Amino acid sequence: MKSENTPVTVNHIIAMKRHGEKIIALTAYDAMFARLEDEAGIDLILVGDSLGMVVQGHKDTIPVTIDDTIYHTRACAKVVKQALLVSDMPFMSYQESIEQALHNAGRCMKEAGARAVKLEGGAFIAETVRRLVEVGIPVMGHIGMQPQMVNIYGGYKIQGKKSEQAKQIMRDAEAIQNAGAFSIVLEKIPRQLAADITKKLKIPTIGIAAGPDCDGQILVNYDLFGLADQFNFKFVRRYMEMAQDVRNAVAKWSEDIRSGDFPNDDESF
Ligand code: KIV
Repeated sequence: MKSENTPVTVNHIIAMKRHGEKIIALTAYDAMFARLEDEAGIDLILVGDSLGMVVQGHKDTIPVTIDDTIYHTRACAKVVKQALLVSDMPFMSYQESIEQALHNAGRCMKEAGARAVKLEGGAFIAETVRRLVEVGIPVMGHIGMQPQMVNIYGGYKIQGKKSEQAKQIMRDAEAIQNAGAFSIVLEKIPRQLAADITKKLKIPTIGIAAGPDCDGQILVNYDLFGLADQFNFKFVRRYMEMAQDVRNAVAKWSEDIRSGDFPNDDESF
């Protein structure tokens, strides 16, 4: 079992499923939020390739490079003491060949301090997953709606609504498990399909837009904090309205400067 002050390992994550404990996962991209999320006691921090959208301002995750992932993972690794830190392998950093995947996943572990990597893809990357695990790199899978496939899907559409598609996603889940992954993200699939996969697999499922029956849940941290308030996703629950707080703080500070109230005597040397 996971205990306080002991870094969470992949074995803890797997055991949490057996014990019926929900796995709490959240993204982070910098030392500030990674430290706060870690101190809040979550189990897993993912340096998601969503950084392309929320940090870099791209319209999708396609432009993210392995050097970007390493840069952001390194910042998080400096402060994360307990949570399992996972680097998300960006588009075309592992699809070319098993050698390419080994090289780049190895960099995430050696240069950045990740303790596992996440790869999008089903049965077609099972051999890559197997090889990474064989050399000592724990892998988290990611199936269902795979954001790196956005140009094939033509948008971020729910996957697995049709029965043939649902069967393929189930086969993908089993292939990734059999290849040795320690957990698997299920993104934007029908609730019932996520429940069926969760029941079938021995490894934990971590859901995003996949309903409540997964073994754990993950969100993009800026969505949870209400920072990315230009979006209104059905599957997100905001626990703060940080974007509005930031606007209000900057507006109030500007007003105080203009009125001569800031800085005051106590704030000066
Ligand atoms: O890139 C990301 O942030 C992700 C999670 C939301 C699962 O893949």
